[in-house]
Amino acid sequence: MARKFLIRTFGCQMNEHDSERLAGLLVADGLEATDDLDEADVVVLNTCCIRENADNKLYGHLGHLRSLKAERPGMQIAVTGCLSQKDKGALRERADHIDVVVGTHNITRTPVLLREAAISGPITEILDAPDPVEMTDAAPALTAVRAVPWAAWVTIQTGCDNSCAYCIVPSVRGPEISRPIDDIVEEARVLSSRGVVEVTLLGQNVNSYGRDITKRRPLFAELLEAVGAVEGIDRVRFTSPHPKDLRPETIAAMANTAAVCNQLHLPLQSGSDAVLASMRRGYTAERYLERLAAARREIEDLAVTTDIIVGFPGETEEDFEQTLTVAATAQFDSAYTFIFSPRPGTRAAEDSSRFIDPDVIADRFERLHLVTERSALAKHEERAGRTEEVLVEGPSKRDDAVLSGRTRQGKLVHLRTEDAAAKRPGALVEATITRGAPHFLEAEFLRVLAPSRTVRRLELRPA
Ligand code: SAH
Ligand code: SF4
Ligand code: F3S
Repeated sequence: MARKFLIRTFGCQMNEHDSERLAGLLVADGLEATDDLDEADVVVLNTCCIRENADNKLYGHLGHLRSLKAERPGMQIAVTGCLSQKDKGALRERADHIDVVVGTHNITRTPVLLREAAISGPITEILDAPDPVEMTDAAPALTAVRAVPWAAWVTIQTGCDNSCAYCIVPSVRGPEISRPIDDIVEEARVLSSRGVVEVTLLGQNVNSYGRDITKRRPLFAELLEAVGAVEGIDRVRFTSPHPKDLRPETIAAMANTAAVCNQLHLPLQSGSDAVLASMRRGYTAERYLERLAAARREIEDLAVTTDIIVGFPGETEEDFEQTLTVAATAQFDSAYTFIFSPRPGTRAAEDSSRFIDPDVIADRFERLHLVTERSALAKHEERAGRTEEVLVEGPSKRDDAVLSGRTRQGKLVHLRTEDAAAKRPGALVEATITRGAPHFLEAEFLRVLAPSRTVRRLELRPA
C-alpha cells in the first residue's frame, strides 16, 4: 500500500503554492495525499514566521505530532519553509522528533531527504542563499497538485530586495530572483490547456519583476500583457505590488489588458509619514493616495485592498489618527490589519523601549477595524443592481443549495440557480448583485457566459 502524506500550510500564498509543488513531487515519488492526520505516514509542516503567533502555532502542532509519532513507528515529520529557514538547527533542538528540516531555498529536495532520512536518520538541510536554478525551475509547478482545477498560482519572482524595518521576509526568502518571462508565459499556456482560466502571479514585490534580468528596467507591465494574451486565461491577478514602485506603465497595462482583473492589493502599512519613514517604506501618505487615485482614474471600477500594521514601535496617537484618516480617505474594499510583532534580526525589533503598550494597540486595532469595515460595507452596498461576471467555485461552505464564486474584483458572491452548467466549478456566469455585506455579495443568476473547461479535479487539502 502506498505511503500517505499530509501537508499543513501556514502563511501566505507563496507557501500555499510551495505546498502544491511539493505535493506534486511527493505524488511523483509514489505517495498518496490524505487529509486524515491519523493515517498519514509523512506529515509536512510548511511554516511561516511573519509574526510571532505563527511561530507559536508551529510549536503547538509539533507537540501534538510527538505523541502521534510515538504511537506510529515509521511515521516521518518534515518541517519546511520560512520558520525552518529562520530557526535552522534550533528547530530540532526544540523538537527532536523531526526527521527532515528544509528551508525556503530547497523545498523541492524534501522528497529525496525523506527517503534518505528513512535510511540514515534525521537530516537538516538549510541553504544560506537561494539556488537560482532551483528557485526558477518550472518543472515542479507543472506537476503541482492544485486545490482547484480552474485557478492557479504562478510564481514570477522569489525573495525581496526591500528592507521594511518590521519584515523578516528578505532574511528568510533571500534576494529577488525573477523567472524568465517566456517560462512564465509557457506555464500559463500549459495551465490554460488543462482548463485553468484564472492565474494569480506571485511575488513579494511584483512591480520590480524583471529588474534583475534587465539590470535596470522592470518588466512587470510587459509580463501582464504577455500573460493576458494567453488564450483561455480569462482572469489575471497578482500580489503584491509595492506602492513606491507602482509605475504608470503598470497601471496602463492593467487598464488596457482585458484579462487583467480590476483588483489591486496595495499595502499601506501606515498613514503617518513619520511611521512610514521609520518603516522604510519609501513613500509618504500623500504619495500613496496619489498613486491610488491614478490607478482608480485609469482602471475602470477598480477594487483596492490593503495591509495595515497597528502599533509599530514609536507610533503615537497622532500617527495612528493619520492612519485612520488615510484609511477613510482611501475607502478600501477590504483591509488586512495586523498587530506589530517584533521579529528577530529586524530593525524595528531592536529597541523595545519604543514598543507600544498592548492595551493601547488593542484599542487602536478596534478603531481601525471600524473604519475599514465601514468602507468595505459601503463599497459592497454600492454594487447592488450591477451585473457582474462570476467565476463559480462550487457550493458555498454554509449551504449546499447556494453557489459561491468570485467577481472580477475578487469579491466573494453567493447565488442560487438550478442551471446545471452554471453549477459546474469553473463556469463563468453573469449575475445581478442584490445585496452587499461587509465580506461578501449576494446575487441573482442571469445566464451562463462560458461553461466550465475543467476536465478533472485533483484534490489537495493541506488544512
Ligand atoms: N511582500 C508583501 C508583504 C508580505 S507580508 C508586501 O510587501 O506587500 C504580509 C503583510 O504582513 C505585510 O504587508 C505587513 O502588513 C504584515 N507584516 C509583515 N511583517 C510584520 C510584522 N513584523 N508585524 C506585523 N505585521 C507584519
Ligand atoms: Fe517585507 Fe517589505 Fe519585502 Fe514586503 S516589500 S516582503 S513587507 S520587506
Ligand atoms: Fe510567512 Fe514566509 Fe509568506 S514568513 S508570509 S510564509 S514568505
